[in-house]
Order: sequence, then structure tokens, then C-alpha cells
Amino acid sequence: MKMRPMSIVPAGLAVIAAAGLSSLPAQPALGEGLSADQAYSIVRGGKLYDKWFALAGSGRPKGTHKAWPASNTKKKGSTTHRCKSCHGWDYMGKDGAYKSGSYQTGIVGVRAYAGAEPAKIVAVLKNDTHGLGGKVEAADMNDLALFVSKGQVDMSKYIDYATKKPKGDIARGGAVYATVCSGCHGRDGKLPKEMKSFGKQMGNPWEVMHKILNGHPGEDMPSLRAFDTQAAADAMVYMATFPK
Ligand code: HEC
Ligand code: HEC
Repeated sequence: MKMRPMSIVPAGLAVIAAAGLSSLPAQPALGEGLSADQAYSIVRGGKLYDKWFALAGSGRPKGTHKAWPASNTKKKGSTTHRCKSCHGWDYMGKDGAYKSGSYQTGIVGVRAYAGAEPAKIVAVLKNDTHGLGGKVEAADMNDLALFVSKGQVDMSKYIDYATKKPKGDIARGGAVYATVCSGCHGRDGKLPKEMKSFGKQMGNPWEVMHKILNGHPGEDMPSLRAFDTQAAADAMVYMATFPK
């Protein structure tokens, strides 16, 4: 679906600044200043991490990924090829939210590669486990690598893993949501119609956080990375009050 976010964003920035959120550029994730080129790469990399074959590559993979463990019979087919399915929305794999549940695989996260040389990460993506060499173009491979190196966020700072509750300021989150999100998602998070409402989606706050920081593959949804990461968590605190 196509929408035009441009008309709401400038007004949004003004309201957010008034709500006390001043820092604009710099930040992402690890608190380093990033060039526009790097930021572009990171948010595209984040969407590729979500579902690379929706955006790039040789199309929807057939069959279950060869590295998907036989012990997990709950998932099969193309979903097992998404980076997030093995390594988690929180990038922590077996040590994070996927330590149990339908995506339990026992596979490591990608946190150890935060800050790594992108070329090293590309080499992992081409190894026998991943075999993406012939499937994903070099530029997309680079975006994935930059995301893994510079785009990861420590979600445990923003989400209470035991209760799944995001941590932050509901008033600031309401300002973020009203100005940046509601134009597409509606006042109570029930748009677009084909989407599961945010009230329900907050059952997986890690997924919601990843989407807010990187956008949704194939849609015009913006990335909130221009703001500090706390702004995403604040929006989630507000979204957690939506009807289920
Ligand atoms: C079906 C499961 C599966 C999928 C899908 C998958 N990986 Fe992996 N990944 C693994 C396994 C298993 C390892 C550890 C062994 C290895 O690298 O051969 C690993 C290791 C890694 C590592 C190194 C982590 C470390 O600490 O050693 C990185 C980085 C990585 N994967 C990135 C990705 C990215 C990016 C994607 C998506 C393009 C992806 N993986 C998709 C299973 C998967
Ligand atoms: C330009 C329109 C637009 C804006 C602005 C926008 N989104 Fe989205 N977003 C979308 C679309 C379209 C989808 C895909 C919905 C679907 O699943 O069909 C989406 C998907 C999502 C998803 C994942 C839903 C799913 O089904 O997996 C989340 C979470 C989300 N948006 C949160 C937000 C938040 C929070 C904001 C504000 C910070 C925001 N979005 C701003 C258009 C937008």
C-alpha cells in the first residue's frame, strides 16, 4: 500500500522537540555518529535481516533452511530463511527471547559481531551454513553486514524480558506515536486493516522494536533511528495501552 508520510513528518519533529526530544542526527544504536550513506545501509540491512527475500535476492526460498534444527518442528519453509528466525528480533538467538517458544533453535545470536569488520560478516554470510553468496547481491550483503556491525540495539535496556513491558516515558511516547505513526497506523493502532493490531503485536515487543528502528520490508514506513533509541521504547510504552 502507498501512503504519503512527508506531510506529517515536519510537524512531527516540531511537536517532538517541544516534548523534550532534541538530539536529531548522530546516534544510532551504538551511539556513534553515522553518515547518511551508512544510515541508509543500516536501515535497509535491518529490513533485509527481517526478510531479505521480500526485498532482494533470488526470490522466496523453497523448503526449510538446512541449518534449521530437526528438533524444531513448529516452523518450516521460507520463514526459516529469515535472519530473525534463527538469530532473533533481539539479535541474541538462544540467549534472548527465542530461548524458548516456537522459534527455539539453540542457535547463537549475532551480538558477538556488533562492531566487527563488515567484510568478516560478509564472509559468514557466504559460509556453508548460510550459503548466501549466490543468492544475495553484493550491495545487499554489505547492508546486512553494516546492520549487524553498527545497527544492533541492546533491547534488554528497553524491554523487561520477564513481563514483556517496554520501559520509558508514556507522554513522550504518545507524542512520538501521534506525530510519526498515527497517520498510517491510526489513533489506536488498528490500521492498516490487514495488520494485526498493535495491542496484539505488543505480545512480541522485540519484533515491534526492530520494525520501529528499521521499517517494514516493502512498505514506506520510516525508520525512527534519527531519534535516540529511547524514543522507540517510549512509543512502545504508549502502544502497550492500545486495545487488544
Ligand atoms: C536457519 C538458521 C539461520 C539463518 C536463517 C541465518 N543464520 Fe546466521 N548462523 C546460523 C548458525 C547455525 C550460525 C553459527 C554457525 C556458523 O556460522 O556456521 C550462524 C552464525 C551467524 C553469525 C556469526 C555469529 C557468531 O557469534 O558466530 C552471523 C553474524 C550471522 N549468522 C548472521 C546471519 C544473517 C545476517 C542472516 C540473514 C541473512 C543469518 N545469519 C541467517 C544459522 C542461521
Ligand atoms: C508511511 C506509513 C507508515 C508510517 C508513518 C509508519 N508505519 Fe508502521 N507500517 C506501515 C505499513 C504499511 C506496515 C505493514 C502493515 C502490514 O502488516 O500489512 C507497517 C508495519 C508496522 C509494524 C509491523 C506490523 C507487522 O504486521 O509485522 C510495526 C510494529 C509498525 N509498523 C510500527 C510503526 C510505528 C510505531 C510507527 C511510528 C514510529 C510506524 N509504524 C510508522 C506503514 C507505516
